[in-house]
Amino acid sequence: YRNLRVALLGAGSVGAQVADQLLTHRDELAARIGAGIELAGVAVRDLDAPRDTAIPRELLTTDAESLILSSDIVVELMGGLEPARTLILQALTSGADVITANKALLATHGPELFEAAGQVGAQLYYEAAVGGAIPIIRPLRDSLAGDRVERILGIVNGTTNFILDRMDTQGESMEQALATASALGYAEADPTADVGGYDAAQKAAILASLAFHTLVPADAVHREGITEVTLEQVVAARKAGYVVKLLAICERLTDPASGVDGVSVRVHPALIPDTHPLAAVHGANNAVFVEAEAAGSLMFYGAGAGGIQTASAVLGDVVSAARRHVVGGPGVAESTHADLPVLPISAITTRY
Ligand code: HSE
Repeated sequence: YRNLRVALLGAGSVGAQVADQLLTHRDELAARIGAGIELAGVAVRDLDAPRDTAIPRELLTTDAESLILSSDIVVELMGGLEPARTLILQALTSGADVITANKALLATHGPELFEAAGQVGAQLYYEAAVGGAIPIIRPLRDSLAGDRVERILGIVNGTTNFILDRMDTQGESMEQALATASALGYAEADPTADVGGYDAAQKAAILASLAFHTLVPADAVHREGITEVTLEQVVAARKAGYVVKLLAICERLTDPASGVDGVSVRVHPALIPDTHPLAAVHGANNAVFVEAEAAGSLMFYGAGAGGIQTASAVLGDVVSAARRHVVGGPGVAESTHADLPVLPISAITTRY
């Protein structure tokens, strides 16, 4: 079988990590997929921009279109609406599977992209678009597809959680904490998307659409960011036994006025009792609480932002997409057997 060719669009904090991981773990990933996999190229705007990555110089190109046309799998990590939308449509139309972490694009042009994919039988994967490293898209789309989700409570923006946590635990100002979050690569290029609640609203729209099997556009989400939250409020809340968190709340509701059944999706700062599990979500971590009719409460927790963490979710999608191309490959369930020995370690001497 020829090598599957992966095109990467964008080499920012997530893209650079995806490239590095793909290059480093290439053989292991190939074994899991059942076919060779290669990084065909990395499309960037500026070949000479400084980058902290091991991507060989000859893989960099400014010609995204040619790269796309010679690839089986296209990974879009450039962000923004354009040219990301046009390039993804080109990739799908050419029959490539596409992986994106672009929540703004999905929440704005999702239906157009899914339709383009459907027309040619291509797939669009977006596990990294919500919750960074946390597997939440597949659980909602697949694992819970037979259940009825009633409500989702989510901390879905790492930057604002980091800021509120620093204000709470270190007494830092919002500006100080935001500067650190930006330096650590958590914040969006324009951090207004984070502190204004836009990023969380886009993610809430994606989660609600999946959970309630309906189309929730980002502009239908009630949105309030954290810009009005003061250090005094955070300190006073803590004294009273609460923590301030930016919450995404998606729920099935009946409008009391009209009696119409529908969904309500909103993002705003909320007071959470300090005993609630969401109160223990620190730093740039995210958590998504799902309440379903049959399953009851489920909690998904982990790193919500960060280059290498988000790269984990992207690479999972790369493996899923690649497996689709390999008829008779190892498949999902059995994967491959790496011949690693099972070590005879006694339970009593093992510490967690
Ligand atoms: N700026 C985003 C956040 C990155 O802070 O959560 C991950 O989507």
